[in-house]
Amino acid sequence: MCNGLGVALGSFAVGESQKRKPRPFAGDKEVGSIDETIQLIRIGEQQGSSSLNAACSSGLAANPWDFDEMAPGYGPGASMADILPAGAPRQGTLPQEYRHASKQELDLRIRTAKQSLGERLVILGHFYQRDEVIRYADFVGDSFQLAQAAKSRPAAEAIVFCGVHFMAETADMLSRPDQAVILPNLAAGCSMADMADIDSVIDCWEELEDIFGSARDGDGRAPVVPVTYMNSSAALKAFCGEHGGVVCTSSNAETVLRWAFERGQRVLFFPDQHLGRNTARAMGIRLEQMSLWDPHQAMGGCDMQTLRNGRVILWHGFCSVHKRFTVEQIRLARMRHPDVRVIVHPECTMEVVDAADESGSTDLIRKRIEAAAPGSTFAIGTEINLVQRLANEHPEQTIFCLDSIICPCSTMYRIHPSYLAWVLESLERGEVRNRITVPEAIAQPARIALERMLRLQPGNYLSGRA
Ligand code: 13P
Ligand code: SF4
Repeated sequence: MCNGLGVALGSFAVGESQKRKPRPFAGDKEVGSIDETIQLIRIGEQQGSSSLNAACSSGLAANPWDFDEMAPGYGPGASMADILPAGAPRQGTLPQEYRHASKQELDLRIRTAKQSLGERLVILGHFYQRDEVIRYADFVGDSFQLAQAAKSRPAAEAIVFCGVHFMAETADMLSRPDQAVILPNLAAGCSMADMADIDSVIDCWEELEDIFGSARDGDGRAPVVPVTYMNSSAALKAFCGEHGGVVCTSSNAETVLRWAFERGQRVLFFPDQHLGRNTARAMGIRLEQMSLWDPHQAMGGCDMQTLRNGRVILWHGFCSVHKRFTVEQIRLARMRHPDVRVIVHPECTMEVVDAADESGSTDLIRKRIEAAAPGSTFAIGTEINLVQRLANEHPEQTIFCLDSIICPCSTMYRIHPSYLAWVLESLERGEVRNRITVPEAIAQPARIALERMLRLQPGNYLSGRA
């Protein structure tokens, strides 16, 4: 199913995880897919004898449609406590026939619809997506690779994006206008992306303009250059496009920040404070030169002196999944496995990145494992579906997640095979469900910020004791 482009993108062939023997994660327990494990934990808890690791929320074992019509909130898991912005996507009622279909029936229906749609359809699956959905993906990769993959299938009228909302928006902006990008469950948002809404960013920008003005210095540098992480709404990407700014991903953040510092005296980085802080520190910027902007406080809660003398203003956003990793988990992993190599995602806190051997994007983590010798041991600090898949793919290595509690990206986890069957069978009937369309007035400036990033030579984000 994965063609040459999939290989070039670094995506891996789908279905491989089903062929290989499940491997342990979080140390010592044999498990299959993350969803199967979560269901087993629930059964164990009901019987009062769970021998498997715990999950961070019992709600994860429920069907996503049980939450779709509940307001407010994206659903179970770590993002439940995050602030849900007004206008966040809401999923309508999933027809009963999909709720009650067995796994076998859904599998048959999805495969049949996929076959009948043929080249008119491409299914994209993010690294963090559950295996029960990934098995149908034509391409598997990180958010940026998937946006590129969407572009590579000009014959596809429908691009079904099994990821989260901002990823589908980016795919829509980079694909042809006649290609429909579909998010099978509209409640699959990114809680971190939602922490920076456009109104708060505009308020912040106006306050920064009051302090720094808008005149360039003698070297032609603007007072502030805005940089947004790919994990942000299209509106924020458009804001960056309109204000001399740029988009970055976790694999090119350092390259992008260098570009921004050539054009600006300081950078406003949103929404992830940790990626911003970790990247700036790796570039030699001191913590005293960074401010943390909390949109719920006057003047962002920042000290004026630090703002004036600083180089980086970090937005007060974070990823609920990556925030769970701790220095103590790394200490335990090293104690139990003296030869372990610890790699964490740069959305983890600075303390965790410092304690790890290396930090890097999802793609970098995957590449490091693929290049490692048999017998290597890795403790990984990123989303559990990816870690478990890598463990399944590499039975010759010991690969486990730093966190022994199973805590997937609860919003991405809301893409369930039932939704996939529903959107695909609708497409067969000529009905386009859950189309993500970014209005051209936003898409046009957002593309400017994306294209600025694309023109930069991509480099792997790398820091620590690599
Ligand atoms: P990638 O950009 O590596 O796909 O990661 C997206 C993400 O959501 C990380 O938490
Ligand atoms: Fe967003 Fe975190 Fe999920 Fe990534 S893992 S999509 S940053 S909530």
